[in-house]
Amino acid sequence: MMSEYLNIALPKGRLGQRVYSLFEQAGYDCDDLKTGDPGRKLIFENNLLNINFFWVKPSDVHVYVERGAADIGAAGKDILDEYNPDVYELLDLKTGICKMAVAAPEKFIEEPDKVLRVATEFPNIAAKYYAGLGRDIDIIKLKGSLEIAPIIGLADVIVDIVETGTTLRENNLIIKDIIMDISARLIVNKSSFNFKFKRINELINKLNFNIEKIKK
Ligand code: PRP
Repeated sequence: MMSEYLNIALPKGRLGQRVYSLFEQAGYDCDDLKTGDPGRKLIFENNLLNINFFWVKPSDVHVYVERGAADIGAAGKDILDEYNPDVYELLDLKTGICKMAVAAPEKFIEEPDKVLRVATEFPNIAAKYYAGLGRDIDIIKLKGSLEIAPIIGLADVIVDIVETGTTLRENNLIIKDIIMDISARLIVNKSSFNFKFKRINELINKLNFNIEKIKK
């Protein structure tokens, strides 16, 4: 019997390439991807293995998976914590490793009586973190280039992703606190997990086997 199709949503960009190579090593490759450009072409098929890869914006992967347009996806733990989608998170892919941190200019002095202005792309994560500290904040939601905000006086601090620390250094910002460790996770649509259990379980076992092998 021909097995059913698996639709897999991957984040466009560097993280997606890393995740794709995990799929490739697990035997879920796609010839199409060797010639096509996942920056431009958005759907890649392997009609022998019955899989489709969709390349979507990193912050949209969970939307495709939650609504069942994709059975499976790869999303950063930051995105999952921020949007809290109704999906199963089944595997730590152990790539895309970085941290969510609070950063500020070196000379910034915390004034506990003043409302803290926090620039971020992750308002829920920031709100939860400062609520835990009992700190009043004013969230300034930006879509990128956050590092500018405290330099030019739009915000006091930023809550952002730090990978190598280069962006902070280049902009004379320092880490004040680490909020969480981040890595890419395999997420699965809840009803797909029931209806395509055999295929999804097999995929997870093969990915996991390779992830463990790479770790050693
Ligand atoms: C992230 C983040 C920082 C940068 C940190 O941005 O927002 O700007 O990476 O990386 P580093 O510590 O290695 O310098 P990304 O490149 O994902 O793009 P974005 O600004 O569009 O989110």
